[in-house]
Amino acid sequence: MPLLSRLVSLTVLALSAIPSVLSFQPGFNYGSQKVRGVNLGGWLVLEPWITPSIFEDTGNSDIIDEWTFGQFQDYNTAKAALQDHWSSWITEKDFEAIAAAGLNHVRLPIGYWAFEVGAGEPYITGQLDYLKSAITWASNHDLKLIIDLHGAPGSQNGYDNSGHKMSYPTWHSNQTNVDRTDAIIKTIISMVDSQTGTVPIIAPLNEPAGYNGDDVLEVVKQYWYDSYPYGSSQQSNTVELIHDAFQSLSYWDGFMSSSDYQGVAMDTHIYQMFSDEQVAYSYSQHIQDACSHGSDLSAFDLWIIVGEWTPASTDCATWLNGRGGGARYDGTKSGDSTYVGSCTGKTGSASSFSSSYKTFMRQYWEAQVISYEKGAGWIQWTWKAENADDWSYQAGLQYGWIPQDPTDLEYPNICD
Ligand SMILES: *[C@@H]1O[C@H](CO)[C@@H](O)[C@H](O)[C@H]1NC(C)=O
Repeated sequence: MPLLSRLVSLTVLALSAIPSVLSFQPGFNYGSQKVRGVNLGGWLVLEPWITPSIFEDTGNSDIIDEWTFGQFQDYNTAKAALQDHWSSWITEKDFEAIAAAGLNHVRLPIGYWAFEVGAGEPYITGQLDYLKSAITWASNHDLKLIIDLHGAPGSQNGYDNSGHKMSYPTWHSNQTNVDRTDAIIKTIISMVDSQTGTVPIIAPLNEPAGYNGDDVLEVVKQYWYDSYPYGSSQQSNTVELIHDAFQSLSYWDGFMSSSDYQGVAMDTHIYQMFSDEQVAYSYSQHIQDACSHGSDLSAFDLWIIVGEWTPASTDCATWLNGRGGGARYDGTKSGDSTYVGSCTGKTGSASSFSSSYKTFMRQYWEAQVISYEKGAGWIQWTWKAENADDWSYQAGLQYGWIPQDPTDLEYPNICD
């Protein structure tokens, strides 16, 4: 046998001896292509600050999240308002525009209640049809869609965006909650397992409150193992996008990185306005902080995606800290927030933004993109917001602090 064909047949033999290593084929090559995407926030999970009008229209200031939206209203009234919102806030036109903006991913938050509502839980259903439409629209426009479980039974973080605001979350402390969540993830995986070309990746739980301590973290880690598709004999091509639970990347060093767990990616969220220290940063400190993440991201052992971030630099957006709440930036948040500056011209309509502010936003946006592409890429929060253009990808495109092509940088050396 000539040497070359002997080599070829030896190679074929070697390859067939390790099929489990080679059979994993994600619908997007996270190791070599950069994720560039946007979140569809405030659509299938309500957030007061993204669509304040839906909450104002209730005329009831006790309605502060999707749980109370169902709890404190007549069922038919609440259901009609949700149906209106679901059918109009995001349509196929948005997917078309997202693709035209050179993006390749959308991350779609959805709550557990779209799949299963427990006795006594006031949630209203109907979101699942829109999730299915979204998958079709993503496919039509060649976008990859991440299904992101944003709210779990008992709430995993107590934020309004988990569906149920509470002072201390209860997901982790009640095994029934965890088991229900696990069953829903299995449902989601089997729903999309044959469509990994469009839904290559799912996020089993957004932002569990790891900062509340080891008891939470132990439950979260076990849940990441349990929600891994099909265990060690890999039969699914669905990538599992786990969240860092607000721990440093070094905390997760080596976690699920063995060959038993192919197709695990890490999600980290980077915001610079939710502490008194960061909200007081100067423009150049914001940019410097953004750039500083690059080395940790590039050194991490799993594919790492910055699944939420924003070119907004203040917490001025109305109700960002919860319905009725104020901002750290202008000292109106209850507690000990100290005044940094006026919120006028920082949020709301971009027509009120100064040109120097917009120039900063462009620089800050580019610094983050450069830095986060040292990892596997980024997904901005969020595509649109009723009255917070600083957070809106759409507004950024319109007013020019986001380029029409996300690789078209004006400040390519800003982190050097
Ligand atoms: C645990 O959570 C379930 C809902 O998932 C609830 O029905 C049950 O009452 C909770 N148990 C405790 C002890 O709080």
